[in-house]
Amino acid sequence: MNHLFTSFSHLFPVWNITRAAGITSYLLLFLSLVSGLLIGLKAIPTKVRPMLTLIHTTGGWFGFLFGMLHGLILLDDHYVGYTLSDIFNPFTSRTDTFLNGIGTLSLYCLLLVMISSDLMKRIGRRAWKVIHFLTFPCFVMALYHGIALGTDTSMIWMKWTYLSTGIIVFTLMAFRVGKRNKPLPSRG
Ligand code: HEM
Repeated sequence: MNHLFTSFSHLFPVWNITRAAGITSYLLLFLSLVSGLLIGLKAIPTKVRPMLTLIHTTGGWFGFLFGMLHGLILLDDHYVGYTLSDIFNPFTSRTDTFLNGIGTLSLYCLLLVMISSDLMKRIGRRAWKVIHFLTFPCFVMALYHGIALGTDTSMIWMKWTYLSTGIIVFTLMAFRVGKRNKPLPSRG
């Protein structure tokens, strides 16, 4: 069994798995946020709404699961020697304390949003909405964490991924906030 695990880690080194899981988690978070923002737009046809809702919720939960995998895999790294506390106690990690802490906060933020959505009936729509707005800081933290800490940030494809996903989310968010704050047309 031990031998099997050793060959597995030879085939897929810890840092490759954690990087792949981190990028997957980030992209799922992006998909979840974008589909959620699109659902709120009037221009979106009713027939595509169920599909967007599915992407929104599934993307959120799988984004969280890949985020967990991304963190937990670090336990198998013998170079830094991460502990459970490094990973789950924000801002206590032995290396890159701040940047790792931001990753942990983003993970917790995402968990809170997903659980509050499942419990919407119990906590009420108002509380759910306030918590749901955390999705945006959660995305910004994940984006900052990935850019600043990731090895792949030096790659051109990753730079474009961060840039395009960031611009799409910020534009949709600004559009949504702008719509909400627009004064109602006067009756007279
Ligand atoms: C939902 C939460 C999280 C997301 C979306 C996320 C996303 C990412 C992304 C996109 C990268 C860049 C990967 C690359 O360039 O190849 C990254 C790197 C990293 N993350 Fe996270 N992360 C999250 C949570 C965490 C947690 C909880 C930890 C543990 C403390 C952590 C530790 C790291 C480390 C050590 C790296 C550097 C890996 C490398 O050398 O590229 N992350 N993360």
